[in-house]
Amino acid sequence: MPLLECIGLTKRWGSVTTVDNVDITVNPGEVVALIGPNGAGKSTIFNLIAGTIRKSGGTVSFLGERVERLAAVDLARLGMSRTYQITSLFPQLTALENVRLALQSCTRSRLMPVPSKALRAQTTEEAMEWLDRVRLKAHANTIAATLSHGDQRLLEIATALAMKPKLVLLDEPTQGMSVDETRGTVELLKSLLKGTNMAVLLVEHDLEVVFGLAQRVVVVEQGRKIADGLPEAVKADPAVQRAYLGVGHAEN
Ligand SMILES: Nc1ncnc2c1ncn2[C@@H]1O[C@H](COP(=O)(O)OP(=O)(O)O)[C@@H](O)[C@H]1O
Ligand SMILES: [Mg+2]
Repeated sequence: MPLLECIGLTKRWGSVTTVDNVDITVNPGEVVALIGPNGAGKSTIFNLIAGTIRKSGGTVSFLGERVERLAAVDLARLGMSRTYQITSLFPQLTALENVRLALQSCTRSRLMPVPSKALRAQTTEEAMEWLDRVRLKAHANTIAATLSHGDQRLLEIATALAMKPKLVLLDEPTQGMSVDETRGTVELLKSLLKGTNMAVLLVEHDLEVVFGLAQRVVVVEQGRKIADGLPEAVKADPAVQRAYLGVGHAEN
């Protein structure tokens, strides 16, 4: 059974169709990249999957269950977490508080809405471990808004992964990063995923990142899916080269 199965995803704004009958599946442990030109509909697809905008058509199933009506916090409890293209951080809170909140959002129980002192200490320790993994431990008490752009993106990745999701949706995690920061982030992501069965659906404009990370690549153009397959096959697909890579610029 696929972990995530979207069938016929469709979004219309008035008379304009921005996502048109798109099927996407992600299997357990699989890293899938969603690519396409600016405005192709990638972020909209993420918002449809996460339920933050209302679909015009189609279905979204997670672990075989329809999840369209679930709120983000319920999706997170089921095992789906995400980052946004802009930001999903609490800018006025510290790095540590941001990760703590992510951890709490998936462990807080209805029976014990106010966590015990022991649980709070454990959450802090776990949050510090996540900061360490993304090399932000030294910034634990830094206000998120004052972190460098690259560090904010790393903090977002930490908050998304701290929920130990079965699937994480990453919308342009390296956007605005320097070449070196991008490479570092890709290596970091690879090491964070290693040995886990976490699946990833990743929107990414840096094709080096895409082909270095993804096991499968889905290409959208003007809201339609035009390719879905192994990275090498997608790279060689003439329709993809025409639409996106630009003939003769396939290595860019
Ligand atoms: N709230 C909205 N209202 C109307 N059109 C929108 C809205 N959000 C996105 N769009 C349009 O949907 C299309 C796809 O946008 P988006 O999903 O952000 O593309 P991508 O992430 O691939 O760059 C664009 O043409 C964009 O202008
Ligand atoms: Mg986008």
